[in-house]
Amino acid sequence: MEKNRKTLTTSSGMPIDNNQFSQTAGAKGPVLIQDFALVDKLAKFDRERIPERVVHAKGAGAHGYFQVTNDITKYCKADFLSEVGKQTPLFTRFSTVAGERGYADTDRDPRGFAIKFYTEEGNYDMVGNNTPVFFIRDPIKFPDFIHTQKRDPKTGLRSSQAGWDFWVQQPEAFHQLTILFSNRGTPDGYRHMNGYSSHAYKWVNADGDEHYVQYHFKTDQGIKNFTGEEATKMKSENPDYATEDLYNAIDNGNPPSWTLYVQLMPVADAETYKFDVTDITKVWPHSDYPLIEVGKMVLNRNPDNYFAETEQSAFAPTHTVPGIEPSNDRMLQGRLFSYPDTHRHRLGANYDQIPINCSYRARAAHYQRDGPLTTTSNFGGLPNYEPNTLGGPVADPKAAWSTPKVTGKVGRHDFGTPDDFVQPRALYKNVMTEEDREHLTKNTADHMMSVTKEVKEKAVKIYWQIDPDYGERVAKAVGVDAPKMAKM
Ligand code: NDP
Ligand code: HEM
Repeated sequence: MEKNRKTLTTSSGMPIDNNQFSQTAGAKGPVLIQDFALVDKLAKFDRERIPERVVHAKGAGAHGYFQVTNDITKYCKADFLSEVGKQTPLFTRFSTVAGERGYADTDRDPRGFAIKFYTEEGNYDMVGNNTPVFFIRDPIKFPDFIHTQKRDPKTGLRSSQAGWDFWVQQPEAFHQLTILFSNRGTPDGYRHMNGYSSHAYKWVNADGDEHYVQYHFKTDQGIKNFTGEEATKMKSENPDYATEDLYNAIDNGNPPSWTLYVQLMPVADAETYKFDVTDITKVWPHSDYPLIEVGKMVLNRNPDNYFAETEQSAFAPTHTVPGIEPSNDRMLQGRLFSYPDTHRHRLGANYDQIPINCSYRARAAHYQRDGPLTTTSNFGGLPNYEPNTLGGPVADPKAAWSTPKVTGKVGRHDFGTPDDFVQPRALYKNVMTEEDREHLTKNTADHMMSVTKEVKEKAVKIYWQIDPDYGERVAKAVGVDAPKMAKM
């Protein structure tokens, strides 16, 4: 786009003589199809919307950098983490999950926390949330779960019945629900919340030693949440509260930052640990695996154009770099497929060529060619096949992943009988204050108020199993007979 050209043109660059009146055959006659100034303008307008993200549709993004502050090379060989002081440019997008692009920012929902690191070894995407756990632990359940959070197929309305109907049949969801219905489910903007990988990933060092890793991006602004009432009020006062807050902070020279810590577990320890460390409904207790500082993320530049940058950004846990690998977390494995697949649908097969997604610091070198909207030089006259004798790029065995051993029968294996209540119990009893518990049980009951008695009773039974006090408070607030539940 030529910024300095003063004459208005069509998209083909033809000067336009008049932008106020369409060409017509006579002053009162029909509009002419030859009027490209009009047809071009209408046709472009007709195509302005691309599909919004099927989840995380509403979001806000910002540019910044990551700087290493601690030497972690004994755990991870990723080049962008290789030296204290090393800086890597990045783009971060925060989001809500269930609502559409125009939905209110302060809705009760997890918040997406997605970072694209433009490293010299290719783009590395960390696609996390502001909660360390998730509702489900198998990707086959994800579309069903998300349907419960979307609009009812008959009424087109959002309702809490479907969500609770689904959750009461997934007791493992109640850890996430205990966080979601605490005031952490309504953060005061994007600057005052933490980000977590939620999944275990794998870090590999230069000698091939492997650790499972969990990421914690802790806000340097401090945790700040809205109460349920404040969040509801803000929905009507400023539905774009979080987007505006992030934009203004950066615009006013007050760049927000997060300190990255990791928890690390030698892969061999996972064999004997008290629960499956690749189960995303669980955290790793800090007492067993303390936080180790890695570096700082600073967001200091707003996008110049929301659509070009924030809307077209495409993150995927599949976009990784040597030294960082997926674990066998089933949810993560499902996500490895789902994200590039949805990008090809939402943005096209060449989504990687859009400037915000381009691995510009690594210079991609491959034999993929053509396709809709090829906007690069398409590798010019370089060979488009391999092997070749023409000196084209070849694979480097040094980039090989670790080689975990897999045994067992193919099948739809269940998860056994993990204790899904010990961690929400610890959160409710040991971490939360009395005030937190009051907010949690009120927020939960408010959301559950309109669901059927049968579903309320099932939910209360689960809450009671987590902690009798938790169950009794929710039961009382939603009008279900708690003592009867207690005897079940
Ligand atoms: P710790 O006391 O060491 O950690 C408790 C953690 O809870 C802190 O990281 C704190 O985050 C976080 N927290 C505080 N209030 C809330 C809230 N209302 N909702 C969600 N998280 C909150 O204990 P453990 O590591 O043994 O964990 C105990 C329980 O805390 C877990 O079962 C889990 O439910 C929850 N938790 C644990 C995390 C972990 O990675 N171990 C992470 C987040 C929650 P912060 O320091 O940022 O305020
Ligand atoms: C966005 C699928 C679980 C975090 C998305 C999108 C899809 C998707 C299709 C839209 C992407 C786009 O259009 O660009 C899934 C599936 C999951 C899953 C199939 C489980 C099997 C999770 C989990 C987390 C997460 C567990 C966090 C730990 C995000 C974030 C975004 C997103 C942050 C928004 C990224 C952005 O800002 O563009 N997910 N998701 N998702 N998901 Fe998931």
